[in-house]
Amino acid sequence: MSGFGNEFASEAVPGTLPLGQNSPQRVAHGLYAEQLSGTAFTAPRGENRRSWLYRIRPAAMHGMFAPYPQPRLHNDFEVGPLSPDQLRWNPLAVSEAPVDFVDGLYTMAGNGSPAAQHGVGVHVYAANRSMAGRYFYDADGELLIVPQHGRLHIATELGVLEVEPQEIAVVPRGVRFRVELPDGAASGYVCENFGALLRLPDLGPIGSNGLANPRDFLTPNAAYEDVEGQFELIAKFQGHLWRADIGHSPLDVVGWHGNYAPYKYDLRRFNTIGSISFDHPDPSIFTVLTSPSDTPGTANLDFVIFPPRWLVAQHTFRPPWFHRNVASEFMGLVHGAYDAKAEGFVPGGASLHNCMSGHGPDAATFEKASAANLSQPDVVGDTMAFMFETRAVLRPTRQALDAAHRQRDYQACWTGLQKHFVAPSR
Ligand SMILES: [Fe+2]
Repeated sequence: MSGFGNEFASEAVPGTLPLGQNSPQRVAHGLYAEQLSGTAFTAPRGENRRSWLYRIRPAAMHGMFAPYPQPRLHNDFEVGPLSPDQLRWNPLAVSEAPVDFVDGLYTMAGNGSPAAQHGVGVHVYAANRSMAGRYFYDADGELLIVPQHGRLHIATELGVLEVEPQEIAVVPRGVRFRVELPDGAASGYVCENFGALLRLPDLGPIGSNGLANPRDFLTPNAAYEDVEGQFELIAKFQGHLWRADIGHSPLDVVGWHGNYAPYKYDLRRFNTIGSISFDHPDPSIFTVLTSPSDTPGTANLDFVIFPPRWLVAQHTFRPPWFHRNVASEFMGLVHGAYDAKAEGFVPGGASLHNCMSGHGPDAATFEKASAANLSQPDVVGDTMAFMFETRAVLRPTRQALDAAHRQRDYQACWTGLQKHFVAPSR
């Protein structure tokens, strides 16, 4: 079903959804009615998100939760002093042992907390088998999943999302799901948003079209499993994982209606806007989705992409400029090469530039772009980079700082920048 944040209705069995009401005395086909609220009951209408689920068994039916040991996934960000160093990593290696999506999650950095309901957790994942007999939900935030390698088959309570690299999926807070790997192995990035729900950015003077267009966001039709067995329900709650026995598949929603639902988006559909005269706009022009904070114009999270595009600006340094920002930037590369770095930033890798830490093109890129012939347009073709940009500093985890795949010589990419300044003689 097409459209961002629409009021959808879908039923896998005809006649499931009640007409004209949400909670009839008896639901059709012997189902239970259950409301899933993603915002406060009294949130303004334009922001209010909830769905009604008509299911075989209520979500309350499962065993007691006990801690589930997965120490690589957590939200313990506030530990010790934090250096302002620029950081970069190679891809996280896929384990030799069997690892599914939940066990393959690895926390890189984060800020805020689920308790405070602001901030984000930044994770990567590397998995090599489908989740079997287990289901997952995240009570701490919605999950923005950015596949980098391998497709994901995400079976959720509200239906199935198939996503491939250069697409994204968003699974709302609380929605239960299972991830299968049709290609055998899969890796990518996940931003866990503790704050206000992701939405499309305002367009201002751009007008009524452009960037990510609402109709390109797709939400699944209802699909259910009527399966019983010895299964496991994994919950992420207040920064850590918990497990409970469950005797049936919780993906048993036969019909649903509402505006709180998973969705996917193909980043190749992004309508990229840039300068046709000189200089660059700020990279906010590349925002796909944003989670606002309580301060107007200052996002808890911006999801920004650097897709293929033409560079036509005249008398302009065409790659991204050198900069320092109050915001903090975690970058990843889904595909191809990124135009500000000649080497070292590889697909599946990541970089982190925190508040006021200087960064920009490496020495090779600077020299090349400074000498480029600007009479011709340039095309940045084979690429898909992205950024999770946050107003608060992203604190890397201990495991990310100590990781063998961290590039400890990242700083060296700027040491080759030459001094070109020559003072004019008097
Ligand atoms: Fe930056």
